[in-house]
Amino acid sequence: MKSFDYYNPTHIVFGEGRIAELSALVPATARVLILFGGESARKTGTLAEVHAALGTREVFEFSGIEPNPSFETLMRAVEQVKLNQVDFLLAVGGGSVIDGTKFVAAAALIDGDPAEILFKFGSTIRQAMPFGSVLTLPATGSEMNNGGVVTIKAQGAKLPFMNRALFPVFSVLDPTKTYTLPKRQLANGVVDAFVHVMEQYLTYPAQAHVQDRFAEGLLLTLIEHGPEAISSTDYNARANLMWVATLALNGLIGAGVPQDWASHMIGHELTAKYDIDHARTLAVVLPAMLQVRRQSKRGKLLQYAERVWHISIGSEDERIDAAIAKTRAFFESLELPTRLSAYDIGADAVPAIIAQLKAHGMVAIGEHKDVTLDVSQRVLEACL
Ligand code: NZQ
Ligand code: ZN
Repeated sequence: MKSFDYYNPTHIVFGEGRIAELSALVPATARVLILFGGESARKTGTLAEVHAALGTREVFEFSGIEPNPSFETLMRAVEQVKLNQVDFLLAVGGGSVIDGTKFVAAAALIDGDPAEILFKFGSTIRQAMPFGSVLTLPATGSEMNNGGVVTIKAQGAKLPFMNRALFPVFSVLDPTKTYTLPKRQLANGVVDAFVHVMEQYLTYPAQAHVQDRFAEGLLLTLIEHGPEAISSTDYNARANLMWVATLALNGLIGAGVPQDWASHMIGHELTAKYDIDHARTLAVVLPAMLQVRRQSKRGKLLQYAERVWHISIGSEDERIDAAIAKTRAFFESLELPTRLSAYDIGADAVPAIIAQLKAHGMVAIGEHKDVTLDVSQRVLEACL
């Protein structure tokens, strides 16, 4: 196991009806900006609940944070923060709104060009405004981590950023808030969480037994209970989905282990170019990634086959093939296609995606930094 820091200051407030506790979670004298997406937060009544809990505090609203939030939109929120002398941000939504709020929290206090936050992947951030979140979509883990992804539309660049200053102060996780989600978003959430675990687990053996067992537990939970969480509004099914998605990317299973993230980096380019939902890009890229890198991931692929899919017969290569096939079939069973052809994207698209990866510095990624542009090209060809 590698040496590591594990730091996670986010206070999780989990359970039905707990949005009312915002009254105590948000500082009493705060000037609050509520940030949300399209209209779902208003239509579902969540926004009204939030307002009621905030009581007589000075409260402003910023709406219109789009899925895959854009730098351009978020800079308008930064202006509003400054204009209204806001000192606390409250995200009400899914990963896009929470990520967007993280960006605003940093951009409002940065000296110089806020776009640098993205070009330098968050490393230039020295401080951020305090912010909390009310999660309405279990998927990204943004509610309990310090990362985000923002798209600079003018450049077609979807860039990740991370900083120690970007953990939410608190996140309210009320599973009943997921009842209004379309099935497509729930299925996306299951797959995004699944791939987050895989990016931290399916690398090479690192003698990190507890992280491996936790990761396998999260994967098994998603496989065994994900489909039910999508098809029913049973409280416990939704509660388990919400918690598994949070734990998949709150730093716990990633502490002290090698991490990959190459599927995410290629997926971000597909979203930037074709506007495919984040999780849907991952459903296409991950199986191809495992296939192309099966030699360097061999030890973990065999462990994954045995412990997650209970595959114990056949040669090593047959077991690896079967595990990749099971992964693909799981995504397809949730109605996420696993081929680019489902999006009418063919071989002629590959050079442009490779050029984007190059432009964004994604030329040596993965746990061994050996996913060069040549490897990414082979992965994309295997996605067709
Ligand atoms: O915009 P509104 O009207 O609110 O509708 C949203 C949006 O259209 C809707 N929605 C959210 N909660 C709802 C609801 N509809 C009905 N009822 C509710 N309770 O769902 C749609 C999708 O929302 P979005 O926030 O975009 O989805 P998600 O949570 O999947 O977030 C995706 C973004 O997170 C980034 C992705 O790249 C993408 O930009 N990620 C962030 C990560 C992180 N911070 O750690 C890691 C992930 O790998 C990921 O990259
Ligand atoms: Zn993701």
